[in-house]
Amino acid sequence: MFKRPLIAIDIGSSAVKIVELSGGGQKKLLSMGMELVPAGAIVDGNIANAEVIADLVRNLLKRLNISPRGRRVALSLGGSSVLMKRALIGASENTLEEQIYYDVQQHFQIDQSEIYYDYALMTADNPEVKETPVLLVGSKRELVENYIGMLHTVGMKAGVIECDVFSVSNMFEYNYGVVEALTAIVNVGATVTQVALLFRGEYVYTRDVSIAGEEYSRKIMDALGCDRPNAELLKIGASLGSKDVPPEIGPIINEINEQLVSEVHLTVDYFIQSGDIKTGALSSVFLTGGSARVLGLDAALAAVLQVPVQVINPFQRVDVNPKKFNMDTLMQQGHLYGVAVGLGLRAIGDRSA
Ligand SMILES: Nc1ncnc2c1ncn2[C@@H]1O[C@H](COP(=O)(O)OP(=O)(O)OP(=O)(O)O)[C@@H](O)[C@H]1O
Ligand SMILES: [Mg+2]
Repeated sequence: MFKRPLIAIDIGSSAVKIVELSGGGQKKLLSMGMELVPAGAIVDGNIANAEVIADLVRNLLKRLNISPRGRRVALSLGGSSVLMKRALIGASENTLEEQIYYDVQQHFQIDQSEIYYDYALMTADNPEVKETPVLLVGSKRELVENYIGMLHTVGMKAGVIECDVFSVSNMFEYNYGVVEALTAIVNVGATVTQVALLFRGEYVYTRDVSIAGEEYSRKIMDALGCDRPNAELLKIGASLGSKDVPPEIGPIINEINEQLVSEVHLTVDYFIQSGDIKTGALSSVFLTGGSARVLGLDAALAAVLQVPVQVINPFQRVDVNPKKFNMDTLMQQGHLYGVAVGLGLRAIGDRSA
């Protein structure tokens, strides 16, 4: 039977993005679009105002000519709502499932009944060690149920639920292949910057930094006494190279760039020094998320980390019909769709990571 693709919905704190890709090995873009989220509707990765979000998703689907009835969705959870831990499961009499059950409880320190969790087996770093590395991923049950409830209001069902870090790594691998050496994929959103480290194509470490696009806008609002929409315009204008912005904007952006770069640097150093996995030095940084294009962020990262830094094009290997999609818009806004494209690559029953 013909299986319809999942509709990918990335619900961020500043914008909801929808992507639909056709199935099969070579993906084709069927639809894409985004809608801004009003402040306060998504807080800490949770739906704070379900009605607003449901309306927004409904409107966006309508604009994209997608009928929601009965459609299945690939959804991702981000920010502090997701707990991710790499753990070693020892050789013991318990089955792997039993050990994971106990480990999840111990790691997350909340009652098993309150969390949704999943795990993925990882490649052992040292074949002589008898323990199996697993990646545990968990989220609060209530939070996941809020998302599922919102989808039901719109007439849709959850098909795949994963986390931003996995979506971004899948999107990266589809477009750029497996990078053997240690690579950082940095998703710079509105409220959170996720730093994910990959080694031989596998996820090895992640950390959330609470400096992202909002921080730049807030500083501009404070310094210039303007409102948020104007601060956003100035920040994006400066980042797109407009000369028509006040001279204060450049130094404000640079100051936050420095803070963010320092956090990314700390994250990479912490991981390498922990010696958990022998990966060698960092080889490259790839940026995604709306704030990936903030003025000078890529250059500041390259200067401090001394590695090549590149903004990911999530549509690099996706077929895009230039008659149907505006290629200029795609080039200018593509970086916002990293998570959504990663979600669009998923199918029910497959496994990420
Ligand atoms: N061209 C651009 N230059 C600079 N900043 C940009 C540009 N385009 C978008 N942004 C900023 O990117 C941010 C939105 O990014 P994104 O859509 O990835 O965030 P989100 O997914 O909604 O948030 P989060 O994941 O943190 O909840 C906003 O702060 C916006 O101002
Ligand atoms: Mg996001």
